[in-house]
Amino acid sequence: MEIKGKVAVVTGGARGIGRAIVERFAKAGAKCVIGDVAGFEEAAAELRSQGLEVIGVHCDVSNEDDAHNLMDRAVQEYGSLDIAVLNAGILRDGLLIKVDKATGKVAHKMPLSQWQSVIDVNLTGVFLTGREAAAIMAEQGHGVIVMMSSIARTGNFGQSNYSAAKAGVASLAMVWAKELSRYGIRVAAIAPGFIETPMVMKDMKPEALEMFKKQIPIHRLGRPDEIAQTAQYIVECDLVDATVVEASGGMHL
Ligand SMILES: NC(=O)c1ccc[n+]([C@@H]2O[C@H](COP(=O)([O-])OP(=O)(O)OC[C@H]3O[C@@H](n4cnc5c(N)ncnc54)[C@H](O)[C@@H]3O)[C@@H](O)[C@H]2O)c1
Repeated sequence: MEIKGKVAVVTGGARGIGRAIVERFAKAGAKCVIGDVAGFEEAAAELRSQGLEVIGVHCDVSNEDDAHNLMDRAVQEYGSLDIAVLNAGILRDGLLIKVDKATGKVAHKMPLSQWQSVIDVNLTGVFLTGREAAAIMAEQGHGVIVMMSSIARTGNFGQSNYSAAKAGVASLAMVWAKELSRYGIRVAAIAPGFIETPMVMKDMKPEALEMFKKQIPIHRLGRPDEIAQTAQYIVECDLVDATVVEASGGMHL
């Protein structure tokens, strides 16, 4: 699908990877809608000041009404919904259990709230926004859905909640590609490695980051625009469907 002239919704598009996707797609001539819980007005205003066609909408992807309203707003504002990038995500890392070395007794268990918060945004949020996008695209007879998984989908230490959610997202890409092709909708996921965004730079411990850098075959973190480039490839190449595209500099967990 050619990006020029199309309407693209990007969840979590106010910063990081999502922001890079909005910028790249808008520069390629798309009309973009940022759906985010924070910073969406500022991000949209800044991109508009560069002459790009972007609006910002409040959307908590884990809220059913917000998910519906976001996709609906794109159609109200620009007349269609051609591309949906389901990118919003959070990290709440922690071990399943911690055992006190001295006593051999379990000192901590991951609270249900920590598990649930990540599942709500990273998995249920993808389900809700993807469902709403698919409903509009099916009636139009065309569309591309790109969702953000992660190399953590194979199971990363300290990421029960995140890894499970990202494996779920990779699975949804397959299910939806099979179910939605009859309506002219393609679906694919991206599995980024470690990308230089606020999520990684702020939320990850510096020593963990250094350790991971050494393990990345290209010896550096990825840049947000490299994931945006991957998203552009998925949208533009009609042969890409029902797959997870890894963009990780060769890193596997
Ligand atoms: N950065 C990485 O190394 C990396 C690696 C693999 C996958 N990913 C995935 O890529 C996506 C983007 O990550 P990032 O690094 O740009 O993160 P980020 O934290 O820099 O940006 C995430 C954006 O999502 C928004 N957001 C958070 N909760 C939301 C909610 N409930 N509803 C709507 N928006 C919400 C935030 O406000 C923010 O703008 C995430 O799904 C993340 O899991 C990132």
